[in-house]
Amino acid sequence: MRWYHEGVAEEVSVEKAQDPQGAEDFSFKWFARHGFYRAVNAYLLEMAGLHPGQRVVELACGTGAVTRMILEKLRGARESAVIAIDMSASALREAMQNLADAKDAAIQFIQGRAEELSRLVREKADAVIFCNGIHYIQDKASLLHEVVASLKPGGRFAFNTSFFQGAHAPETDAFYRRWMFKALRLLKERYGLLPRPEKVEARRQLTPEQYARLLEAYGLKVVHQEVRTALVNLQGWLDISRFEDFVQGALPGVPLEKASAVLQEAVRQTFQEMGLTAVPRNWLMVVAERPA
Ligand SMILES: C[S@@+](CC[C@H](N)C(=O)[O-])C[C@H]1O[C@@H](n2cnc3c(N)ncnc32)[C@H](O)[C@@H]1O
Repeated sequence: MRWYHEGVAEEVSVEKAQDPQGAEDFSFKWFARHGFYRAVNAYLLEMAGLHPGQRVVELACGTGAVTRMILEKLRGARESAVIAIDMSASALREAMQNLADAKDAAIQFIQGRAEELSRLVREKADAVIFCNGIHYIQDKASLLHEVVASLKPGGRFAFNTSFFQGAHAPETDAFYRRWMFKALRLLKERYGLLPRPEKVEARRQLTPEQYARLLEAYGLKVVHQEVRTALVNLQGWLDISRFEDFVQGALPGVPLEKASAVLQEAVRQTFQEMGLTAVPRNWLMVVAERPA
């Protein structure tokens, strides 16, 4: 298992997870700052073939890390436009602050659900980008219906996710098992708590083949599909354990601060006991085209 010891130790400054008022900040920004994360998103945008002059819709823009990368791809043409959508008002607020300095292209922020895309945006787009969020969508058929309705003929839909069947390499199972076992034990010992049992359906993840079939059923032609592996170091796992959606998915029903604290402590211990420097994680990348 050589990969366990081969992670490139990446330097990110470890800031305190607090907002200026002193409250804990469980936003995605901590994870989004990592180089491995930027790399998987940059790769998807490259595959999508974005270029200046396009009108691009970004679904689930979060705090704007990918939005900035899209803007860089569109730089240099006055007609370029980005419509960034997220259902979270707080994520959008943060995205607006983060992108306040971006002057090159028109950016519009819209609060709403990806499944309501055609109602939120009337004018058709050259590309719809959906990074690290498609796994949240229960009704993927409705989503695809909306995406197709919102694309110009020849327009592209590109998404990536690290929550699909195949995201965990089999040799990393021992890591996840030990991490979750430790987190549950800490939760019980320290706080006398247990997570709420989840319905299996809520955790159902698609395989790459199921995604491809679904896209084709909605008339989209898959032009590129690939699984890429990123090496996620300890700070990456600590930072994903500070992200509200991940924490609630891992330990449903547990108060956020307690759940985040035990996940962080458990992953630190797991790295130490297993002598790890990084754990690989697979990202599925897909680009599909609406026929002209
Ligand atoms: C993991 S973050 C990804 C942010 C960004 N796309 C990136 O890759 O860095 C997921 C985002 O999806 C948003 N989200 C989840 N379900 C959504 C939905 N149905 N419609 C719109 N946004 C959604 C969340 O609010 C969150 O900001």
